[in-house]
Amino acid sequence: MMALGSPIVLGVESSCDETGFGLVSDGTLLGQGLASSASQHADFGGVVPEIAARAHLEAVVPTLRIALEDADVDLADVSHVAVTSGPGLATAVHVGLAAAKSIAWALDKPLYGVHHLAGHAAADTLEHGPLPERSIVLIVSGGHTSILAVGDLVRDPIEHLGDTLDDAAGEAFDKVSRLLGLGYPGGPAISRAAVDGDPAAFSFPRAMLRPKDAPFTFSFSGLKTAVARTVETLERAGEPVPVADIAASFEQAVVDVLVKKSLRAVRERNLDTLVIVGGVAANARLRAVAQKKCDAEGIELRIPSPRLCTDNGAMIAAVGDLLVRSGAAPSGLGIAADPSAVLHGAQLPLLR
Ligand code: KG4
Ligand code: ZN
Repeated sequence: MMALGSPIVLGVESSCDETGFGLVSDGTLLGQGLASSASQHADFGGVVPEIAARAHLEAVVPTLRIALEDADVDLADVSHVAVTSGPGLATAVHVGLAAAKSIAWALDKPLYGVHHLAGHAAADTLEHGPLPERSIVLIVSGGHTSILAVGDLVRDPIEHLGDTLDDAAGEAFDKVSRLLGLGYPGGPAISRAAVDGDPAAFSFPRAMLRPKDAPFTFSFSGLKTAVARTVETLERAGEPVPVADIAASFEQAVVDVLVKKSLRAVRERNLDTLVIVGGVAANARLRAVAQKKCDAEGIELRIPSPRLCTDNGAMIAAVGDLLVRSGAAPSGLGIAADPSAVLHGAQLPLLR
């Protein structure tokens, strides 16, 4: 039950191919609506920005209606609006930002520009409650792979321990899926194909694990190339391509590196909580391996359920709700899109 006078925050997400609206009050998810244009990009093997933007434009009003109905909230009862103002595809971010500004202006309510990746981290709080005082957060999405040291998500600066030098983990899934002919989005497709495969069939490279390598930095482009070479070699020899085995072995290589580096960060910082978020956190093998390793070391593992790992509006509302409750000043209607915003804090500053 919502406490009387509690804020009701509407979150708006449109940075890639999902149009999302969510309503959050006092850390509780009231309801959400989600539309995806993923099927429209399937033939292209990746998200086409113009197609995504057009799909957002069509989906905004119906998806907002679904979210309000799901939450049993009237639009007039929304007290604050939060929106992804970056990072993301510029054309796509603009649509959600314009929608959020229109709503905030029409309702005369404060508007907060939110960093998309902070949204991924906040998604976990909707299911598992506030984050501990300090934790390590692994963000694995289509565009980012980072190990972060996080305190209070909206009050403290976010410390990057390491990022990827090249492809993001999700991008590697998408590219390998394309070269195996499994389509877009690659993560779920590879995951499905990998179920019947042997993860030890091929020993694909695990990059950046040598003692002299930066401990929390990733690289996935060599892995993608190794998979491509394997497929080419088999095809040239006229041999069948064992898609399931390649998918499982690729998945295992990604998961091994992600889990090893994240656990090392938890240990080195003397912490006891690992949070894994972003689209790739929906991956069943990653969830299972991380759980096993965390259990063995007495580390608490937090991963949102798969539907809250991939992009959605609830996670943006969750950041907005935290900002409102921490007394943060609204960004205001002058906020601009920042397609390549780096994650330093949950709220994005106004661009000049
Ligand atoms: O966080 P997200 O929805 O959007 C971005 O912010 O990028 O992440 C999308 C990425 C895509 O690369 C997609 O292939 C990947 O997450 N993904 C998965 C799974 N579901 C989505 N990767 C591996 N296994 C999955 N089950
Ligand atoms: Zn995302």
